[in-house]
Amino acid sequence: MKNPPRIPLNNGVLIEQLGLGLYKVPSTTAADIVTMALAAGYRHFDTAAMYGNEAGLGRAISALAGSPREPGGSGETPPGTGREDLFITTKVWNDQQGYDATLRAFDTSLINLGLEYVDLYLIHWPCARRGLFSDTYKAMETLYREGKVRAIGVSNFQPEHLDRLLDTAEVVPAVNQIELHPWLQQHELRAKHQALGIRTEAWSPLGRGRVLEDPVVLACAAAHQRTPAQVILRWHVQAGNIVIPKASAEARLRENIEVFDFELTPKDLAALESLDRGERTGSHPDQVH
Ligand SMILES: NC(=O)c1ccc[n+]([C@@H]2O[C@H](COP(=O)([O-])OP(=O)(O)OC[C@H]3O[C@@H](n4cnc5c(N)ncnc54)[C@H](OP(=O)(O)O)[C@@H]3O)[C@@H](O)[C@H]2O)c1
Repeated sequence: MKNPPRIPLNNGVLIEQLGLGLYKVPSTTAADIVTMALAAGYRHFDTAAMYGNEAGLGRAISALAGSPREPGGSGETPPGTGREDLFITTKVWNDQQGYDATLRAFDTSLINLGLEYVDLYLIHWPCARRGLFSDTYKAMETLYREGKVRAIGVSNFQPEHLDRLLDTAEVVPAVNQIELHPWLQQHELRAKHQALGIRTEAWSPLGRGRVLEDPVVLACAAAHQRTPAQVILRWHVQAGNIVIPKASAEARLRENIEVFDFELTPKDLAALESLDRGERTGSHPDQVH
């Protein structure tokens, strides 16, 4: 299997292009799923304070440090799983926005994760009506300067939120994590990201599983003798998106990461592009307060 490539963020920090999303993974099972994912080759994990499973992710990471690294030992650790090989993202929740609250929320996340630093820290939603995202981001810039986070960014920001943030931001966000899949292709936002040097990170990259049944996806999968999930994830990869599919079972974890050894043709890409219909599976950013 070919591992996901590491691609540079706008500050030179490298991120695996494909990681594991942990939304709706209970904290009790998160450690087991992350351990399975590590064995399958995942090194990039996406959590959030709101998911309630930072501690489960942290347990799997600390178990790596405590288990034997030699092949054949019990609880054998996959190679290349030192802290510097992992990429951990977490996010500040809406009710913790504001300068001081964000600094406190970050400390809590760090304790939950059992880590000394986080690789990427994101504002989970703009919550524009609260009017706090610029102050929240200032706290993230402080954390960045202190070396407690290797990169900072946002999630669910619309073009106008990015414009407003950039009026006061000193550090251009490395990432905007947005809902993105063949039924919601977000062309305007992606063009803006490209112009600003912000990486697009796709959440619900499989449309929460719904896009897997699309006839165009099924036809493309049959033509390549791949699964529908692999076709959609490969579409993201070829578009240059960072992608964080969630899966709970070992077979799906493995299936989803095995997308770096085939190529969709221009005709496949055109067929998948034609599926855009502006259909969300999650909330619109303007409806989250
Ligand atoms: N920033 C935000 O506001 C935000 C919002 C939503 C999500 N996210 C992030 O994005 C990640 C992914 O999004 P998501 O979890 O909403 O949706 P998703 O990754 O598009 O879809 C996950 C669903 O697809 C199923 N699935 C996964 N691989 C499959 C495969 N190979 N074949 C068939 N079904 C498959 C999963 O089932 P099983 O779990 O049963 O295997 C699950 O029901 C989240 O976990 C989270 O980290 C961020």
